[in-house]
Amino acid sequence: MSYINNSLKILNTFNLKVNVYKVFIIKNLQKLCQLWEKYEKKCYPCLVLGEGSNVLFLNNFYGLIIFNRIKGIYIRESKKYWDLHVNSGENWHKLVKFTLKSKIYGLENLALIPGRVGSALIQNIGAYGSSIENFCKYVDVIDPISKKIKRFNNKDCQFKYRDSIFKHKNYKKYVIISVGLFLSKKWVPNLKYFSLKHLENYQITPQKIFNYICNIRKKRIPHPKIYGNAGSFFKNPCISLKQGFKLLQIFPNIPYTLQNNCIQLSAGWLINQCNFKKYLYKGVTVYSKQSLIILNKFNNSLGIDILNFAIKIYNTVGNKFDIWLEPEVRIIGNYGEINPLIYFKNKK
Ligand code: FAD
Ligand code: EPU
Repeated sequence: MSYINNSLKILNTFNLKVNVYKVFIIKNLQKLCQLWEKYEKKCYPCLVLGEGSNVLFLNNFYGLIIFNRIKGIYIRESKKYWDLHVNSGENWHKLVKFTLKSKIYGLENLALIPGRVGSALIQNIGAYGSSIENFCKYVDVIDPISKKIKRFNNKDCQFKYRDSIFKHKNYKKYVIISVGLFLSKKWVPNLKYFSLKHLENYQITPQKIFNYICNIRKKRIPHPKIYGNAGSFFKNPCISLKQGFKLLQIFPNIPYTLQNNCIQLSAGWLINQCNFKKYLYKGVTVYSKQSLIILNKFNNSLGIDILNFAIKIYNTVGNKFDIWLEPEVRIIGNYGEINPLIYFKNKK
């Protein structure tokens, strides 16, 4: 198979040198459909990306990458809410800044998360006690083959922690084209996250929360331009109350939160206990301030090196704690997404 040397290096935040058959940046839906039709007919796989901040390319991609830049923000006002209809190619952080500037509040806890609005819904982005599901009214999608457009209301999206229906079989075929968000006109600060609690004593404003979160994120999360990374590589695991309390008796320092019927543990802490900060494998390591973030430290590692390092973490943490982590990052092979269970499967 011949493919043009089209490099994706600056278009994935792991900074992996990946060649693909063709790369397109599209600004409207017609172009997306045209491209899809043309290349699908020739049997090339097509993958839509936002900013490549949640993907790990294992090797070259023998297909078409379409970067979605379909833009537009439309605001309507009702008595109690601001209703935003946002096209999926808008940059997420710029949207957060735009809402604050427009005196529309609520998204400030989700500041500085990389990526585009469409992708944000797919994995239900979250940070500092908030997640996008709290503001999502609907998600509009297109099936690029039949060209049928469909609306999913909040409930239909089946949002969970870092999950939605769009990550699952039969729904991955859809391309998200726009999103409806609703933001209450009555702003209540969200300071329930442990590292924000102390702000309760201040005269807090949305802008102050935004600034505070941008500052801690800049301190705790490495910039992908310096060290290639995709944010947290794994999700924080949820385990049964029984297993959780047993583990907490042995390791009382594990940071955890009680959820409905389960205990969510800090994956970063678990990884830290296995000394991965000292381990450098083919240029891959974990970030010194946050073990959940895997780094392409010198920006010259291969996707497969990152995967092997992640598998090593998975097995070491699993064998030590009997907790089997689940990757958050999407793994992409020559022809499309690969089921992570192929690599991350509890061998016990
Ligand atoms: P991409 O990586 O381009 O795509 C991700 C997946 O979505 C791919 O499978 C792609 O095919 C699919 N996709 C993209 N657009 C569409 C579309 N329009 N329709 C259908 N499928 C599509 N995440 C958090 O939740 N919280 C954080 O605090 C956080 N911090 C991060 C910090 C850093 C430094 C980095 C690098 C990442 C972080 N992330 C975080 C992860 C990442 O930012 C989010 O997952 C983000 O939503 C990905 O956006 P993207 O546009 O780059 O998606
Ligand atoms: N911790 C450690 N060691 C580590 C990392 C964390 O002990 O190496 C401890 C911290 O000390 C703290 C607790 O774990 O007590 C929580 O740490 P932090 O606030 O950094 O959050 P996190 O649980 O590690 C999650 C998200 C991040 C999100 C932050 C802030 C996941 C998988 N990760 O990380 O999201 O920004 O909370 O809300 O849920 C991402 O998804 O890519 C991402 C960066």
